Amino acid sequence: MIEKVSNAFRDVFKTDPIVAFAPGRINLIGEHTDYQEGFVFPAAIEQGIWVAVQKNHESNIRLYSIDLEEEFAFSSTDFSPKKGHWANYAMGMVSQLNQAGFYPTGFDLAFGGNIPASGLSSSAALSVAIGTAISGLFGYSVPKKSLALYAQKSEHVFAGVNCGIMDPYASAFGVKDHALLLDCRSNTHQEVKADFGDYSLILVNSKVKHSLADSAYNKRREACEKSVRLLRPTFPDIKTLRDIGVSDLETVEEILPAELFPKAKHVITEIQRVFDAVDALKKKDLLRFGQLLNASHASLSDDFEVSCEELDFLAAKAQEIPEVLGSRMMGGGFGGCTINLVKTDYLTEFETRMNPAYFEKFGIHPEFIPVKIGDGARLIS
Ligand code: GLA
Repeated sequence: MIEKVSNAFRDVFKTDPIVAFAPGRINLIGEHTDYQEGFVFPAAIEQGIWVAVQKNHESNIRLYSIDLEEEFAFSSTDFSPKKGHWANYAMGMVSQLNQAGFYPTGFDLAFGGNIPASGLSSSAALSVAIGTAISGLFGYSVPKKSLALYAQKSEHVFAGVNCGIMDPYASAFGVKDHALLLDCRSNTHQEVKADFGDYSLILVNSKVKHSLADSAYNKRREACEKSVRLLRPTFPDIKTLRDIGVSDLETVEEILPAELFPKAKHVITEIQRVFDAVDALKKKDLLRFGQLLNASHASLSDDFEVSCEELDFLAAKAQEIPEVLGSRMMGGGFGGCTINLVKTDYLTEFETRMNPAYFEKFGIHPEFIPVKIGDGARLIS
């Protein structure tokens, strides 16, 4: 990929670039808790986005998407979001850097990647890779945490999705063979060795991409914020749902209207599941770890209502198999992948069993993606 991206850059811009990389991410557990300042447990994957950059001594920033074979240019001093356009990720990062007092002048940028499915945060990877590349090119020392925060803000302002910090943070800070127990209030993390013994992680791509996902995502976030407002008279010190414990659920149920309670319940119980899962992994209690993945899926599907028929089917089918310890939808929802913890010597049979069942029901062959945990963003050359 480094060669491919560097060569494409040379073909289009006729100079030699420097290259940065940022990975996509998986999330072991802790879904829809980051924007309520909760805890999540993601990890970077080996696949990601490579960004090649070089100064062009003009005042324009010129972009080239290798996969789309498309170019785009904008002035480094005057630009605004362009609805639905891939260039938003570059404009968003430049805008965030500007706001932080960094003013990159003209440069050329080409990018490409190998992230195998939707739901693995290619947009966060692209933003973090762009931030890493620009910082390297202009010699800015921008801490990784700031890059992650800029990427998140850029997604809010330039892509219109009010996402949490999880995706860019995991992309920036990932460590090979480790998951990150990330506290989304302090934006700090603890690395936890992700040793699954005789078991392996495999994603199953439902190949469903729901167009309403972004607006539904923002709506879920608003529902949580509304719950916090309604709970505050009784719990004056709360800032987010993170401040409510599982032991408070009965009181919470008395206060919140019937349509809001299940959503709040998901966030409150999911944060507890993150702690329990980290504990189980540290104790090598994989059976318990898997049960928590299954419970997370049920909560996301029944209470938070961000699953879909296809993801529910894939999770249920996988959960029936004794060699599968756990299965759940992963990421924002409404499509994308399930994450599954499967006995390593059963992986081939897992595919053989899941594939025809899904095809028979939905007429689509799902895709099976074994994942390895890799390192976070870096400047390569
Ligand atoms: C998307 C968002 C994240 C997070 C997940 C759900 O991936 O970008 O911030 O909220 O959904 O856990």
